[in-house]
Amino acid sequence: MSKVTVVGAGNVGATVANVLAHKDLVKEVVLLDIKGDLARGKALDSWQQASIDYYSTYLKGTDDYKDTANSDIVVITAGIPRKPGMSRDDLISTNAKIVTAVTKSIMEHSKNPIIIVVSNPLDVMTYAAYKASGLDASRVFGMAGILDTARYRAFLATALDVSPKDIQAVLMGGHGDTMVPLPRYTTVAGIPVTELIDEKDLDAIVDRTKVGGGELVKLMGTSAWYAPGAAAAQMVEAILKNENRIFPCCAMLNGQYGVKGLFLGVPVKLGKAGIEQIIELKLNKEEMHLLEESAGHVRSVMDVFKNMDI
Ligand code: NAI
Ligand code: 2OP
Repeated sequence: MSKVTVVGAGNVGATVANVLAHKDLVKEVVLLDIKGDLARGKALDSWQQASIDYYSTYLKGTDDYKDTANSDIVVITAGIPRKPGMSRDDLISTNAKIVTAVTKSIMEHSKNPIIIVVSNPLDVMTYAAYKASGLDASRVFGMAGILDTARYRAFLATALDVSPKDIQAVLMGGHGDTMVPLPRYTTVAGIPVTELIDEKDLDAIVDRTKVGGGELVKLMGTSAWYAPGAAAAQMVEAILKNENRIFPCCAMLNGQYGVKGLFLGVPVKLGKAGIEQIIELKLNKEEMHLLEESAGHVRSVMDVFKNMDI
């Protein structure tokens, strides 16, 4: 049985740990936070839920990286979240230092883990973890696309009055307002979505998806955690079960889609080695243009990171 560490025991990290425990996939989930008692408290609370919800996964809370030794997968959620009025990019100076330090500490105790980054600004924080880890890019990637696609699917399910289970979709680009939902690749139980909804309503859903994170920040005063936590746990599950699931994830591109040396959201195949394949869709001119715009935005945030000399 495997071991998973979640760094950051805040809203998202604690949710990842709790959802993972419910999946009963791993022997132990280590929840680490600089606020050690917060991690210890949340882990203990989740462990006390085990006999009620019927799982055996043990949850250990800590602030000591020694407890993370020999982790198979590490999910990094450490950092500050968005507050109203902030963009994800506003978080860069604080979170880049945190993600870099966290990754280095993880690598002191685990040889060849798979790292899933959640901290924002996501695409650039994933690059920061990749740099600090020295791991192959197939083992370091970010969670955003599953969440953004889930929001898109939820809005469509409401508009069409169908189950979100039947909506399949893919979304690409950076985790920000320039993300690229792809109606041409969206189906409802195999039926192209464009046959079920008129263009104006679909456009409105695409626009709402792009600012879906901000909508929740406005409502709650901080960013979301249930869907983000479940999305990261779904990635862990796909890897541990070697499922070869196709998910939109933030992956290092090396020429795919004409992009090189940048982490960006693309469809990938997730299995036991991490990213087993990057899938290249035949985007049309307009979709490609939107993806290039999104990549340009991520590149501008990357420049800020590179000038920080961390
Ligand atoms: P939160 O504030 O509830 O939790 C963050 C935790 O990180 C805190 O408990 C804090 O003590 C801890 N932390 C800070 N520095 C640390 C360090 N050096 N080592 C260990 N722990 C440290 O924030 P929340 O809501 O859990 O969000 C976490 C991050 O995830 C934020 O950057 C947020 O923007 C991002 N996020 C990303 C999403 C995505 O789709 N990629 C979705 C939702 C949130
Ligand atoms: C979200 O999309 C803020 O990235 C966070 O909810």
